[in-house]
Amino acid sequence: MPKFLVVYYSRTGHTAQVARALADRLGADLEPIREARSRKGIWQYFRSAREALAGKRAEIEPARHDPAAYDIVLLGSPVWASHPSTPVSAYLAANREKLKAVAFFVTLGGSGAEKTMARMEEAAGKQALAKFSATERELKSGKWKRGLQRFIDAIEEAATA
Ligand SMILES: Cc1cc2nc3c(=O)[nH]c(=O)nc-3n(C[C@H](O)[C@H](O)[C@H](O)COP(=O)(O)O)c2cc1C
Repeated sequence: MPKFLVVYYSRTGHTAQVARALADRLGADLEPIREARSRKGIWQYFRSAREALAGKRAEIEPARHDPAAYDIVLLGSPVWASHPSTPVSAYLAANREKLKAVAFFVTLGGSGAEKTMARMEEAAGKQALAKFSATERELKSGKWKRGLQRFIDAIEEAATA
């Protein structure tokens, strides 16, 4: 049985929703990326956008699961100014050498998913086995579930190949 780890950062809960569904469907372990400093409020919104644009890495707490122990790590981020969130950039920088295979998922308002996941591939130093994105509107309407199934199918196929 392949081992899956779902790692994610979520500021307002959207990416967490996708991460939890993925972990549930794949029987994966779940690793929320945590940081000590709060990002609540409008000023933190602007700080987050500015730091993401600058390619900054957030200070994050040590991971609880060792990614090297998993066949595939699924990594999820909100899109911030067409970049990965800074906690996810920090996770990739810290764990890049430990990732055997990766798949990426992002949530977003409406634009920047491809650029963000291309930047995640660059940071991971490898191509993603599969990619998935869901907009806020798709999350609200339930439309994201069909795309999620295709994403899961691609991951399961890659894991058994
Ligand atoms: C700092 C910041 C920058 C953002 N930039 C973008 C963007 O470039 N494109 C977009 O479609 N949505 C953007 N958004 C919206 C988020 O990607 C979207 O709300 C996402 O679902 C949030 O995920 P979360 O609830 O897991 O934090 C941005 C949000 C924040 C906080």
